[in-house]
Amino acid sequence: MSSWTHRHLLGISQLSKGDILHVLDAAERWFSLSRDEAKHARVLQGRTIVNLFYESSTRTRTSFEVAGKRLGADVVNVSPQTSSVTKGETLLDTVKNLEALRADAIVLRHSASGAPDHVAAQVSVRCSIVNAGDGAHEHPTQGLLDAFTILRRKGRIEGLVVAICGDILHSRVARSNALVLGALGAEVRLCGPRTLMPRHAATLGPTVTVCTRLDDALDGADVVMALRIQNERLPAAMLASNREYARTFGLNATVMGRAKDDAIVMHPGPINRGVEIDPRLADADRSVILDQVEAGVAVRMAVLDSCIRASDVHRGAA
Ligand code: CP
Repeated sequence: MSSWTHRHLLGISQLSKGDILHVLDAAERWFSLSRDEAKHARVLQGRTIVNLFYESSTRTRTSFEVAGKRLGADVVNVSPQTSSVTKGETLLDTVKNLEALRADAIVLRHSASGAPDHVAAQVSVRCSIVNAGDGAHEHPTQGLLDAFTILRRKGRIEGLVVAICGDILHSRVARSNALVLGALGAEVRLCGPRTLMPRHAATLGPTVTVCTRLDDALDGADVVMALRIQNERLPAAMLASNREYARTFGLNATVMGRAKDDAIVMHPGPINRGVEIDPRLADADRSVILDQVEAGVAVRMAVLDSCIRASDVHRGAA
């Protein structure tokens, strides 16, 4: 297994299989600690983590905050709506100012693909940048927490069939998942309407295929993941209606009959109940949607700890 050397986490595409296994292994250790044990392991005490979210979030922002606090760090939430961004300050100036306040890590969510890469190239060696979702590009901690959830439920990832269904075109979650699960040896089937399928989807990895029929994607699947229909990113011409989408691509107990009997159901959230997933399936025993949320804290603890440690090493070497 590799030892982690990344000061920033910008995307799964920059990680080796060894890096992915490092995070999953560290996350398992954090996940298994009792609350009392975790209190004594405040490895980021005296450090400052800033959550800088230019897009709305419930799960990612909160779990980065909980993760940072469980590691003993001071966590500060900056909302562009109530910051000097409203006065015209640029992303880079905002980040430079947070860095001057001695932030050890900035967790960034932004609607522009590549925004975390852009700022990571400009910050000093003192500060780590963690991508919390950039446009339609990547959501690396979501991919890692989904892999962690599957591993805990299934005991392995290699050889599993994972169907990811929905708006693949706009989904940073689909991209990060295809990369992480592909690297760990799963067969990944991307499924959705032709209008919501990127032309080069199958090039995400040698084990990634594209299906335009839900039945084909679910046939013998071990894991079925529904994606949120992102109405805020969708031009009207790309989807006839939510009702039509639910009829052809919505997950429900009937279509799940194509998958294996013990197949699990995932969704990164937030859920559009009755659109991409039937509410009864979202709440069924086979659904691991809330397990994904729980896993997010341990995975983000592993990522924050690993990146800040790597930053210390870089700084020592500089
Ligand atoms: N899965 C996810 O990114 O959810 P949030 O948008 O609530 O953070």
